[in-house]
Amino acid sequence: MKYSIYLILMALLFLSCADKKDTPQEGAEAQSKNMSPEYSEAYQLLKNQCYACHSPISSSHDVIIAPPMAAVKLRYSRSYTTKEEFVEAMVSWAMNPNKEKALMRGAVDRFQQMPKQAFVEEDLRKIAAYVYENELEEPEWFAAHEKEMHAKGGGMGQGMP
Ligand code: HEC
Repeated sequence: MKYSIYLILMALLFLSCADKKDTPQEGAEAQSKNMSPEYSEAYQLLKNQCYACHSPISSSHDVIIAPPMAAVKLRYSRSYTTKEEFVEAMVSWAMNPNKEKALMRGAVDRFQQMPKQAFVEEDLRKIAAYVYENELEEPEWFAAHEKEMHAKGGGMGQGMP
């Protein structure tokens, strides 16, 4: 019994080392190199202005200060199907966050409303278009978290007899 716990620990250690080779950050750098100039500018803006809080490289759901941008994208693309609507919504939120109109109520409760900051609207448009068009890096725990959330509220019969 004790022995198997050691084995599991060893396996975890091994996996976490193996993962380091391919951290989202390195992936992101590679990504930005292969991008059109327009997107790589937008990506820099996203990184500089949003990732301080909406970080894609947090190690766990417990240490984050805002939902990762991939989560925001997922939520927004459920409500706004066209690029135009999506960009409008994201820009108008960031220019003037107001929890009355927040889509991510759970996030507002957990993290407090996003603070109003001095963003430039033109930058936000680039960022929002980038977010809409591109696949974003997501933290490793994110897929599992999403799955869990859907299992809880999803009505797929999981867990509930
Ligand atoms: C100082 C930290 C911080 C920064 C920087 C920040 N955000 Fe946020 N943001 C938050 C927090 C916290 C939430 C979750 C609570 C909420 O929805 O208000 C959030 C939520 C959001 C949401 C979802 C709003 C909703 O409908 O609930 C969008 C969209 C968003 N941020 C866009 C951005 C963009 C775009 C940038 C960069 C230009 C950015 N944020 C930078 C903290 C930040």
